[in-house]
Amino acid sequence: MSWTEVEEEFGLSRESLRSAARRWKKAHPEEYQALKQQNTRLDDGEMPEPGIFDDQGENERVVYAIHPQIKAEEDLIAYCNIDLTVWYIHSTDVRSYQTPIKRELKRLLYQDGRIVAGNIDKGGVYQFQQIYIRLVLRRRDPEPVHPILRPIEAPELIFRSPERVCGDNVVRQLTFADSQMGFRKNLITGALEPFHDRVALDLVAQIAVAAGVERIDVLGDFLDFTQATRKFMQEPAFYGTTQPAVLEGHWFLRRLREQTGAAVNLFEGNHCVRVKTFLMELMPWAYGLTSADDVDWPALSVPRLLGLDGLGVAWIDGYPNGESWLGKRVCFRHGNVVRKGSGRTAAALADESDVTLVVGHVHRDEEATRTVWLRDRYRYVKVRVVGCTCRVTGEVPGATDRENWQQSLLITDYDLERDRFSMQPVMLDQGIAVWDGKVFEGQDYVEELREAWPRWNW
Ligand SMILES: [Fe+2]
Ligand SMILES: [Fe+2]
Repeated sequence: MSWTEVEEEFGLSRESLRSAARRWKKAHPEEYQALKQQNTRLDDGEMPEPGIFDDQGENERVVYAIHPQIKAEEDLIAYCNIDLTVWYIHSTDVRSYQTPIKRELKRLLYQDGRIVAGNIDKGGVYQFQQIYIRLVLRRRDPEPVHPILRPIEAPELIFRSPERVCGDNVVRQLTFADSQMGFRKNLITGALEPFHDRVALDLVAQIAVAAGVERIDVLGDFLDFTQATRKFMQEPAFYGTTQPAVLEGHWFLRRLREQTGAAVNLFEGNHCVRVKTFLMELMPWAYGLTSADDVDWPALSVPRLLGLDGLGVAWIDGYPNGESWLGKRVCFRHGNVVRKGSGRTAAALADESDVTLVVGHVHRDEEATRTVWLRDRYRYVKVRVVGCTCRVTGEVPGATDRENWQQSLLITDYDLERDRFSMQPVMLDQGIAVWDGKVFEGQDYVEELREAWPRWNW
């Protein structure tokens, strides 16, 4: 389509059309190049319409000429009266076009009104220069066309020194769960293969000491009580393993009490309930029976077997409802909800609970948080599922060798004055834990058990 056709089609002046075309070309250089490749005739070949144009923007100026008297860049600059101290030539494009012209050159000799000699030369070619100059304003601070981003010119700033961190009313507490203490016993040698992970338990004790905890919650299933159930197949290797589990359980609780000085709560879990259930089913006469010298606990009960009173360890009875609180907001329970899949138990509990919960039982490390809205305020409900301290490679009865279990502990700092808290899970990752900028390496404490009870094949 020629400029004349476009002019007729849109009813616009040629100059407006060409000016608009130039502006489009400037604003869409990539599309223009693509179009140009598609149709090389857009700019080359056909000669553009003659004329002189001066298109001046805020910071840019484009001058353009096809004119018989403008043959070079200097001619156009002079014609448009461009001050080169103000404008700087960014780019120049000069092209030549040839176009046939109408002319007639007669060299004729007349005699008596008749041509007797000579010739008539018709037609010719005229050469045009197309000169295109793009200029940019020389000023150092060109007018902003769009809003500009300036570096901050900062005033003098004053920072108040932070308030002193106040920890006077902060209690530091540690939770661990599900060590499932118990054994398989080699029927020939009597060697005891533990379900619990002594290296992970050692990390619990090390970190409890390093963190200076004031309170420890042992969140249930501390002992597995493998023999105290009829629900599962009793392997011969379980025979006679409850006694060493009780001894080692006592040993570890005593270590915690003596090394940390912390208050310790031991929760009844579903495995501890096995003792009660077994007695009710098979020895109802022995259920709740106490010895004459200790009427506080039944003779066959976890607190009595582990000697909790002597250790100064509190027994949190009544699974699954037995609970203990830290401040007004954090509730500890063993837990009785299990959902398949990572994070799903914590999510399910968070959806149902109106208070922050710390539970074990699932043998996974999970967290979920929900915001509970009241009329004019809100509060966070957090659910922390604490991982286990039993072995996670298939030793625990009923487990496969590739369970989705994790070993972890949880440290909670609770401000009793403001009822705010933070919870830091610490992964017990194959005998190594990283916490508070330190690396802890767990140790197997079996030698200490051998010294304490040398008759058992630990
Ligand atoms: Fe458990
Ligand atoms: Fe459990």
